[in-house]
Amino acid sequence: MKNILITGGAGFIGSHVVRRFVNKYPHYEIYNLDKLTYAGNLENLSDIDGKPNYHFIKGDIEDQNFIMELFQKYQFDGVIHLAAESHVDRSITNPMQFIHTNVLGTAHLLNAARAIWNGNWEGKKYYQISTDEVYGALGDTGSFKETTPYNPHSPYSAAKASADHFVRAYHDTYGMPTVISNCSNNYGPNQFPEKLIPLFINNIKNNKPLPVYGQGINVRDWLYVEDHAAAIDLIFHKAKPGETYNIGGNNEWRNIDLIKKLIEIMDRKLGRPEGESLKLITYVTDRAGHDLRYAIDPTKIKNELGWEPTVKFDEGFEKTVDWYLANEEWFNHVTSGEYVEYYKKMYENR
Ligand code: NAD
Ligand code: DAU
Repeated sequence: MKNILITGGAGFIGSHVVRRFVNKYPHYEIYNLDKLTYAGNLENLSDIDGKPNYHFIKGDIEDQNFIMELFQKYQFDGVIHLAAESHVDRSITNPMQFIHTNVLGTAHLLNAARAIWNGNWEGKKYYQISTDEVYGALGDTGSFKETTPYNPHSPYSAAKASADHFVRAYHDTYGMPTVISNCSNNYGPNQFPEKLIPLFINNIKNNKPLPVYGQGINVRDWLYVEDHAAAIDLIFHKAKPGETYNIGGNNEWRNIDLIKKLIEIMDRKLGRPEGESLKLITYVTDRAGHDLRYAIDPTKIKNELGWEPTVKFDEGFEKTVDWYLANEEWFNHVTSGEYVEYYKKMYENR
């Protein structure tokens, strides 16, 4: 029996990770700790609610005493830390929140794990879920390797990078068995519609302008979220302490090309004439400090752990659009309330 703490499990990637672990490992007790910020949504996990090995805990990783008590109570054997403020644009308008959640929150988890494990590292693992954005931006060629120096540009990626440095410091200083993975852009069901793909699906559906930052020439490497969850499972179980793995989709797209592909799929599914929604494309002021290109070199995880993406982009993208179109109620819930204000602030007069 193992007690595993997964933080941020009510969010996009976390919900896929929690579901995978709860279903695949009935002999683990899975504790999903989430503050339920605007990005956290228990509807994402309604299908596993009630499973005997699944436990939801509402709580804040910024609350040091609460985190310490939680570790004392449940004596976790493993931690998979996904909880974070995750949206670059929000980090530009409110950087302090990112420092509190992403840096201090991580430090509280590390301190509690260190106190509880107290040097007895056997069978223990602390796993930090990080991002490729810590490496900065690439030009037209090359890709991020595990040895690429950190060079973050946004408050989001600077906070994630800082947290990663603390994780490495706890490994190097105290011998804590930590691992880190840095993944590229995920897509799939349950992503909050502040991120490019679900935001644009929602806008196309509602015939609203599609705000393309700058010239739309920035490049991202897209990975289906369940492939990321599979990589996390493998790394959690197989990676040696102190290791880092890059995870990517071998699937680079310029934003504008991805958007045109999305429009083609959406127009077909909505029964609109081909290319009808192209008129919604609206070029807007660029994101400040907008990283030009991300690309992952996934050689290490492939060679050492045998992981490769399994979902072809064409399939995964269609499946994703189908999910958002079929889950109108989910969409309506997450695009009411705070979202309306956020949208106005971010996009009106841009
Ligand atoms: P998300 O924004 O969808 O979910 C974040 C979750 O964390 C939410 O459920 C939220 O309620 C919870 N949370 C936020 N602050 C908290 C706090 N103080 N205490 C407890 N819970 C809190 O994020 P996501 O896109 O699923 O990303 C998850 C993780 O993966 C993040 O660490 C992110 O940096 C990393 N990551 C994301 C991507 C991506 O493409 N989305 C790619 C690589 C890495
Ligand atoms: O690379 C991994 C990262 O991917 C994760 O660490 C982050 O948590 C996640 O949010 C994502 O960051 P991006 O900034 O790449 O994702 P986003 O969906 O915000 O934007 C993707 C690209 O689309 C980026 O170049 C900015 C652009 N964009 C985005 C939005 C929201 C637009 O042109 N218009 C938009 O309205």
